Amino acid sequence: MFRVPSAMSRARRRALTEGMTNNEEIVVLGGTGKTGRLVTRTLREAGHRVRPASRSGETRFDWADQSSWPAVLEGARALYLVAGPAGLNTLLAARAVEAGVRRLVALSGRGMEHCTPDMFPAMTEAEAAVRESGVEWAIIRANNFHQNFSQDYWQEPLRAGRLALPTAGVAEPFVDTRDIAEVAAALLTRDGLDGRAYDVSGPRALTFAEAVRLVAAAAGRRIDFVDLSPEEYVAELRAEGVAGGELAELVVTFEVLRAGRLAEPADGVRRVLGREPIAFETFAKEEAAKGTWS
Ligand SMILES: NC(=O)c1ccc[n+]([C@@H]2O[C@H](COP(=O)([O-])OP(=O)(O)OC[C@H]3O[C@@H](n4cnc5c(N)ncnc54)[C@H](OP(=O)(O)O)[C@@H]3O)[C@@H](O)[C@H]2O)c1
Repeated sequence: MFRVPSAMSRARRRALTEGMTNNEEIVVLGGTGKTGRLVTRTLREAGHRVRPASRSGETRFDWADQSSWPAVLEGARALYLVAGPAGLNTLLAARAVEAGVRRLVALSGRGMEHCTPDMFPAMTEAEAAVRESGVEWAIIRANNFHQNFSQDYWQEPLRAGRLALPTAGVAEPFVDTRDIAEVAAALLTRDGLDGRAYDVSGPRALTFAEAVRLVAAAAGRRIDFVDLSPEEYVAELRAEGVAGGELAELVVTFEVLRAGRLAEPADGVRRVLGREPIAFETFAKEEAAKGTWS
């Protein structure tokens, strides 16, 4: 879990409460996930009423059970959309608007403008669903998260001392989920969204080898990075039991990375929050101090 400072500055609180009264409820899908739980916390710290929704969260929401949708959407004013299965995002956005939601903010990925719909079908649909919703909208296109190194895909390999990915040495400016959450909270509570995609990244591009070196230095131990061929990566994923859509999405993520589509630092954090994004070095030191890679 990430600690977001609980004492919020007056300026930051004002930025997050502008344009919305606190009794208008905000639904956060993926409310227990890497970004959703921080979006929830950030909004609550600013005094908003939030309904974090997922299968195991405070408000039960299951993409696969449409009978769970109305209670989640009823009376909400804004919605943070973490894409559900392809085929359901358009329907969910329409139901949200019917229920009175007036602002939709979708989480998506950097480089989506260069992707065909078959590459990331769920995020493609979520983007189109908010764009065509008829209400205010914004899209957050994020680079790979810092927190993939600490909570998710890459934590166990790093703990085991070897991270192996097919990057061809191409760099990317990883982004911190705390920055994504603050951007999302600001957009969810801002009147007059101008209907655009915000590219959000960290301050500078790092190769995975550099990022792993920073993790290893912060953790005070040896961790190797191995640059795999795409074929070797698929073989490793299969050996780990990864298959189907999950395997396809991971493979395509690294194709987009190797094509250099994620490489340029973006100004979304500065544009929305008026400050610089969190650096990977800061993240690595904080996580190492918590024993994340010990
Ligand atoms: N990781 C990255 O680097 C990266 C970069 C750019 C974009 N993205 C995009 O970000 C999205 C993931 O966001 P995240 O990282 O914040 O979430 P996450 O950590 O992957 O968590 C997934 C969330 O979805 C909920 N969920 C899963 N299945 C569900 C279902 N059937 N019905 C309702 N809720 C369900 C989970 O909660 P329960 O288990 O409680 O249901 C959890 O809250 C994906 O669309 C991904 O493509 C990720």
